[in-house]
Amino acid sequence: MVAVVTENLQNCKNQHSYNKFGMITQVSPCQINNPDSIYFVIALYPGSFDPITFGHLDIINRGSRLFDQVIVAVLRNPQKAPLFTVQERLEQIRTCTKHLENVKVDSFAGLTVEYAKLNNAQVLLRGLRVLSDFEKELQMAHTNQTLWDEVETVFLATSNEYSFLSSSVVKEIARFGGDVKHLVPPHIAQEIYQCYAKTHPA
Ligand code: PNS
Repeated sequence: MVAVVTENLQNCKNQHSYNKFGMITQVSPCQINNPDSIYFVIALYPGSFDPITFGHLDIINRGSRLFDQVIVAVLRNPQKAPLFTVQERLEQIRTCTKHLENVKVDSFAGLTVEYAKLNNAQVLLRGLRVLSDFEKELQMAHTNQTLWDEVETVFLATSNEYSFLSSSVVKEIARFGGDVKHLVPPHIAQEIYQCYAKTHPA
């Protein structure tokens, strides 16, 4: 049960809408003005997304059906040398998710749980592809829980067709001129090739 509607809303004429899971997808104005009356589940999907792939988009799509809001948050990590700047990655993700009304895209620095707290996200959303992911992801989930015991990590099994897919695989294929159009949206494929054309001109 995601929505807890209290008595003082019984006279409210505006109704909220539910999705097929029974979750509220649209909140009426009187509910927004009365935040105590509704329990909204916000999931935070943190990551590097350098670049976002069809595997990530699969998790975002499915997450957006399961949770009231999904925040896709790009980690600003000065220790990594990414292919795309944070700003470029934010734009890429926004373009690919603009059809999903309950998906917000942002960046953060520091601890994921601190960003989650600031944004009232009770759930950390992560995808699991293969067994080797599980070890790392479980360790991360446990670590995060020691930092904030109210946070829950929810894993979604990546769809079978994307079980091999990672941003690194995409970059490696593109760097050697291979086709990545089946792995990332077309405009991102274009941007990757452009990046490598600049850094490794033929
Ligand atoms: O897409 P990635 O690189 O697998 O994402 C990893 C990420 C960003 C989720 C993880 O590195 C992270 O949460 N970093 C923020 C620092 C932090 O909170 N560390 C404690 C948990 S291990």
